Amino acid sequence: MSDNEIQLNDPQTLYERWEAAQWNPFEVALDRDRQQWAEMGESDRGLIYWVLSSLMVAEERITTKFSGLVGAHGSEEEASFLATQQVDEARHMQFYARFQDEVIADPATVAAHVKRSREQVSPAFEQIFDVELVAAHERLVANPEDLASKVRFVTLYHLILESTLGLTTFKFVTDYLKDHGLLTGFVDGYSKIHHDETRHIGYGVWFLRESVRESPGVAPEAIREMLRTLLPSVAESLSPSSGADGPDLDALGVSGEELRNFALGGLTRRLEIIGVPLETVF
Ligand SMILES: [Fe+2]
Ligand SMILES: [Fe+2]
Repeated sequence: MSDNEIQLNDPQTLYERWEAAQWNPFEVALDRDRQQWAEMGESDRGLIYWVLSSLMVAEERITTKFSGLVGAHGSEEEASFLATQQVDEARHMQFYARFQDEVIADPATVAAHVKRSREQVSPAFEQIFDVELVAAHERLVANPEDLASKVRFVTLYHLILESTLGLTTFKFVTDYLKDHGLLTGFVDGYSKIHHDETRHIGYGVWFLRESVRESPGVAPEAIREMLRTLLPSVAESLSPSSGADGPDLDALGVSGEELRNFALGGLTRRLEIIGVPLETVF
């Protein structure tokens, strides 16, 4: 399956797939990573630490700002699938925290890892995860029956965070690590996380497409509005200078243009399937 392959499945199919795809974040072998980390050069370490910090903060936000969607489920099948996604996100957060515990730093609580990791992320990243995600989640918690609130939340969460930012980060970071023979345990865990993410994205595209078909007067404009709000921060967070004090993304051997083309290509294809082409957004 390609990184960007879109799986369009209904929630019951995705739930059954989840049952067959369990993994344990404490069983991924990290012994070799520990040894490699100790021997790694400063620039590789800085790069990996910056990437890991972004992932750590993102998974914490994504885990703790999700329950409103479970509460806003339509069918029992959708509630079942969304409950599995919440477990997945907690599992992802646990894997990154364990990697910090066992490979990078002294053992600490998840909160301490998140606090330290926060020093590494950019203003655009904070705008997306701390301002927009929090606001969309609060609005959904307050209005679980409101379709526009749910569509806005899924657009932000599944279409932007998990697809546009998540798949792009996964592709270029794992390409770099594999090319350099680095951190095989991390790549293994991150690949398992990626496999989970393809189910989540499948749900998001399914839900948005169904909403556009069933509520053409509400859903398309809610999607467009959310994209207009978010895309400037998304573009900024994918630009090479976004790392603030972190290392330049050029260190991955990838240009900003390549990153943006990959991200935009995937978003364009998903929006076609959903029925709200990107050219109709602006
Ligand atoms: Fe995740
Ligand atoms: Fe996810």
